[in-house]
Amino acid sequence: MTADPSLLPLSRVCYDFGSLRVGATTPAMSHPARDLEGLIAKGSPEEQFLAQIDFARLPRHIAIIMDGNGRWARMRSLPRVAGHRAGIAAVRDVVETSARLGCQVLTLYAFSVENWKRPRREVDTLMGLLREYLKKELDTLQSHNIAFNVIGRKDELNPTIKRELQEGMEATRGNTGLLFNIALSYGGRAEIVDAVNRILADRGPSGSPEAPVDEASFSRYLYTAGQPDPDLLIRTSGELRISNFLLWQIAYAEIWVTETLWPDFRKRELLQAIVDYQKRERRYGRVDGSEPEPVSLSPGKVTV
Ligand code: FPP
Repeated sequence: MTADPSLLPLSRVCYDFGSLRVGATTPAMSHPARDLEGLIAKGSPEEQFLAQIDFARLPRHIAIIMDGNGRWARMRSLPRVAGHRAGIAAVRDVVETSARLGCQVLTLYAFSVENWKRPRREVDTLMGLLREYLKKELDTLQSHNIAFNVIGRKDELNPTIKRELQEGMEATRGNTGLLFNIALSYGGRAEIVDAVNRILADRGPSGSPEAPVDEASFSRYLYTAGQPDPDLLIRTSGELRISNFLLWQIAYAEIWVTETLWPDFRKRELLQAIVDYQKRERRYGRVDGSEPEPVSLSPGKVTV
């Protein structure tokens, strides 16, 4: 049986393949170093965005719904899978840029629980691309001090892929820079249901009365336990949907949507999203922009 995460100090809890990673510091809790050397070409539009960024107020966690691969391919009369392949270049650029800017957590939505319903060939291609990405990019992840992590129903993945992902996670576990989550076989509702079931399992068959679950203790049963919630949620290709992504965690995220299709998304769009995010006034239901107190739902007292 897994340890009750509510008993563990938050900064030392990180989800890891169905068990809790205990004893390793979650990179989200550290402040990754910035490495901007050679990141941006002089005189480029990216340079202007970079100059506007306040590094003291970077979003701690950026989550991205990568969308538009199919449309990108269709516009070029290519098969859908060509769009996914082209999307890898965007993944590479965004992961490296986020790490070099000094972001704490980046989560990319690569494959949802609903995506299993896509044609077999497309699913196989996506899984193949993931394996290829991991194999080719492991050195880059290491050299940029990036910790790789998978969130989602990993037991639904092919055992070989699961093992390779696990190896990637173990190889980068000690890295203290960006925490890079890939959401795979992921669904926000599934994650909440899984959390409830883990709470029930930890409480045992008698369901013995213990302290009531509150928001903080519930969060520790999510795949993202120990990580800050996304401050910024980006969606590409212009769709205005959440698509079952990080439903619990995005409660107060700022949403930024671009018409750019995912295969064309690069650091320019990422920097622009951060600049726009920093112009927003985040009120968390209050009347001014001051930092929120933790929201709690204790019996008889509902905070919205
Ligand atoms: C949505 O486009 C995109 C996906 C379902 C998959 C995204 C995956 C990748 C970019 C490749 C693998 C990722 C990693 C992290 C290595 P869509 O097919 O729904 O596009 P459409 O809406 O235009 O049809």
